[in-house]
Amino acid sequence: MTQTQTARAAPRGGSLARRARDAGMSPHHWYPAAFSHEIPRGGVTSTRFSGDDLAVYRGADGVVQVVEDRCPHRQIKLSHGSVEGCNLVCLYHGWTFDRSGALVDMKHDHFGKRLPVVSVRAYPTRERYGIVWFFPGDPELATVTPLVEIPHADEWASLRFHYTWRAHHSMIIDNLCNLTHLWVHGSWVPYGDTVLADHTLVGDKITLLWEHDLRRDWMHPFTSRFFRKGKGSNESDTFMIYDYPYQSALSNRRVRSTNFMLPMDDTTTRVFTFQLWEPPTLAGRKVPRPLWDLAMPALKPVAAEIFRQDGFTVEEEQISYLRHIDRPIPEPNPAVKRFNELTVRKWEQHLEYQRTGSLSEADLAEQTRTKVL
Ligand code: FES
Ligand SMILES: [Fe+2]
Repeated sequence: MTQTQTARAAPRGGSLARRARDAGMSPHHWYPAAFSHEIPRGGVTSTRFSGDDLAVYRGADGVVQVVEDRCPHRQIKLSHGSVEGCNLVCLYHGWTFDRSGALVDMKHDHFGKRLPVVSVRAYPTRERYGIVWFFPGDPELATVTPLVEIPHADEWASLRFHYTWRAHHSMIIDNLCNLTHLWVHGSWVPYGDTVLADHTLVGDKITLLWEHDLRRDWMHPFTSRFFRKGKGSNESDTFMIYDYPYQSALSNRRVRSTNFMLPMDDTTTRVFTFQLWEPPTLAGRKVPRPLWDLAMPALKPVAAEIFRQDGFTVEEEQISYLRHIDRPIPEPNPAVKRFNELTVRKWEQHLEYQRTGSLSEADLAEQTRTKVL
């Protein structure tokens, strides 16, 4: 249990939307700490989960570990230090911690005494899909909680990057899943009219089906080939999943955007994103994957501009939300209620778990289910 998690009260009440804005994210899931390539052997970096500082380092054996980013000696961040073998050494007096978080050495006189018995918290850590995952919740639940599965992650070409927005995670999920906001993107996206054809909430999973007409303007001769349902068609669809706490959107079965949120604090969220594109067929043959990989950088400027538009808007929403905290939040899209219900329920479930140390049978079934995006 972390300081932030204990300090935070239950959602304060009021409207469902306001309770969602007050909720934290359940720590009992695998969250992304960093992309693997950001941490070479012997490298260390820092991040945060729900206000708690974390150090992420890779030992000489190539194995990565997430630990509490606080030296127990003078409380400075261990991520300022260095990696020695498979241990993390504090910058200041050289107190040295092994992968389990235990103090194993001090780089100074021991004054004839034994090493103090002190440790830092070490989080269950895994690596898959080029992401370092860690489990900030109850370590016992980590042993029964599967890592998420990302279909086509190894077969389709991808753009992978993360962005950090100064906004609450419930605003980010609203942005990712609620396509009524496509207005903000103007003609940067290929869609003209978009309607919500279906949405359901079962357990911890929301699915949505959006149907679109495609734009027929000069900006989209290339992208509409990917997004249209068939030759000559002017229609497309987007099948979305929010399987708490992971989000994914598959457009026309060919382009998948998969997003993993890291709630850093109450008003800061980092999102790790995979933009996966199925290799197209040209003259009856699939474009070879290595060739298709070369096309990905060409998509980056468009993706960057679309994410800039989203980022500017959700950060503005966060500022305005706090400025007008007592104003109602009207919402015509019925699916948004589902996101907020799920956000509030999962946070309350976590608070209940803190009190009782147990999950209901239904909640345990969701906890141990493999999430496939
Ligand atoms: S502050 Fe870390 S070793 Fe002294
Ligand atoms: Fe957007």
